[in-house]
Amino acid sequence: MAALSDKLADAYQNARPRYPIDWFTKLAARTGQHKSAWDVGTGNGQAAIGVSFFHLVPKLAEYFEKVTATDINEAQLKRAVKHERISYHHTPTTMSEDQMVALVGGDNSVDLIVAAQAVHYFDLAPFYNVAKRVLRKEGGLIAVFVYNDIIISPEVDSIMKRLVDSTFPFRTPVMNLAFDGYKTLPFPFESIGMGSEGKPIMLDIPHKLSLKGFIGFLRSWQPAMKAKERGVELVTEDLISKFEDAWGDDDDVKDIFYKAHMIVGKLSASDIERHRKRFDTNCVVTTLKDHNNSAVIASVTAAAFAGVAAYCAYSARKNS
Ligand SMILES: C[S@@+](CC[C@H](N)C(=O)[O-])C[C@H]1O[C@@H](n2cnc3c(N)ncnc32)[C@H](O)[C@@H]1O
Repeated sequence: MAALSDKLADAYQNARPRYPIDWFTKLAARTGQHKSAWDVGTGNGQAAIGVSFFHLVPKLAEYFEKVTATDINEAQLKRAVKHERISYHHTPTTMSEDQMVALVGGDNSVDLIVAAQAVHYFDLAPFYNVAKRVLRKEGGLIAVFVYNDIIISPEVDSIMKRLVDSTFPFRTPVMNLAFDGYKTLPFPFESIGMGSEGKPIMLDIPHKLSLKGFIGFLRSWQPAMKAKERGVELVTEDLISKFEDAWGDDDDVKDIFYKAHMIVGKLSASDIERHRKRFDTNCVVTTLKDHNNSAVIASVTAAAFAGVAAYCAYSARKNS
């Protein structure tokens, strides 16, 4: 995802909906423990914490003792709302898998991973590798969600539909994942009954939206920005005046909703087994390294040597 300019990052923050608190209540109720959550692609921290009528509304921070919130975009992180339970970190794409795992808390340490409106931007294979390592084997969950359609009123929605259709030539594979509501998103985790790979659950996000907020939403809307990068202005002044006419009273703050799609999963038995084997191997290697102890190395070497020698003696007897 391209870094937003400071101006657009402001527009983005003002226009986006706040995720309903009951989503986090339900997710927290399904996790085994509540020590640690990871909000990946946190942006301004919308899933970690929210602000409503000047009150802080902790979300993940309400339920988890520690929230690690990460993003590759520093302009977004600068605007994130601070909270004692949340630590924000800039994570450039150059970070290694081991560095990411360590930053988030280490192997087998995270109770809930949330990627809100974000996972479709990620390089999925490395992200899922990190997710599978950090997720707590017992009771750990990963939730990904996206919202795409905005439902305002029949008059506004019909213009919006034409705008959405006009983005077809400019859509990237990443955008298509969002447009299709994560139905084609690879999601290699076991279902817990809240959606599964290919079958996300559908949810509504109620929101109050002013005309100014709606125009802010349009101006920071990724598909329109992508078209603009290719020299085509989809959100023209003419279109904005059509939206203004359809809106009715300029001062009208409307009750609208966004259509959202969510998939929640846990590690499969085979993932847990793979992790256990990797952990055992790492344990042997780090024990040898940490001890840097020639006695440990000598005894392991001697045991291996004795095993091989016994096998050779056995083979020799069998073949004689
Ligand atoms: C549409 S925003 C969503 C922000 C926030 N989670 C929300 O719900 O509004 C997507 C965020 O993902 C971040 N992002 C994109 N690729 C990323 C990556 N590989 N690792 C971490 N964050 C990434 C972007 O910088 C951006 O802040």
